[in-house]
Amino acid sequence: MRKLVLLAALLGAASCAATPRAPDAISRGQAIAETNCAACHAVGLTGRSPAPEAPPFRTLSRNYRVESLEEALAEGISVGHPAMPNFEFEPREVNALVAYLRSIQTTDR
Ligand code: HEC
Repeated sequence: MRKLVLLAALLGAASCAATPRAPDAISRGQAIAETNCAACHAVGLTGRSPAPEAPPFRTLSRNYRVESLEEALAEGISVGHPAMPNFEFEPREVNALVAYLRSIQTTDR
């Protein structure tokens, strides 16, 4: 977590340009999350994570900006910590995944 945020900070806020978030990107991102992440994380709007330590995706924005994750993933930096496998995604996949993550963030903090 700390590493991810640091890397995102190092990468800078350069890529602030708003990317269009088409609905089909959201559904592609949902599919990516269900395929790659759902074994450990709760990826939907409800439910608990199968791995108790893995944060439900809908709560990620409580801890940091989802955009930071996009920057880190887009640079090929793994969302890494010992309990979690490393992933490398294509930019399109990153956009889709982040579009989905943004779409499910809950506002109740
Ligand atoms: C094998 C189980 C597993 C899979 C699969 C998995 N995660 Fe995780 N993830 C974890 C665990 C456990 C944590 C919390 C551990 C920690 O904070 O050190 C975590 C934490 C996170 C965090 C919070 C940041 C952090 O470092 O604490 C993000 C973001 C995240 N995962 C994204 C993803 C994404 C995106 C996918 C799918 C592409 C995914 N994870 C797949 C186990 C997994």
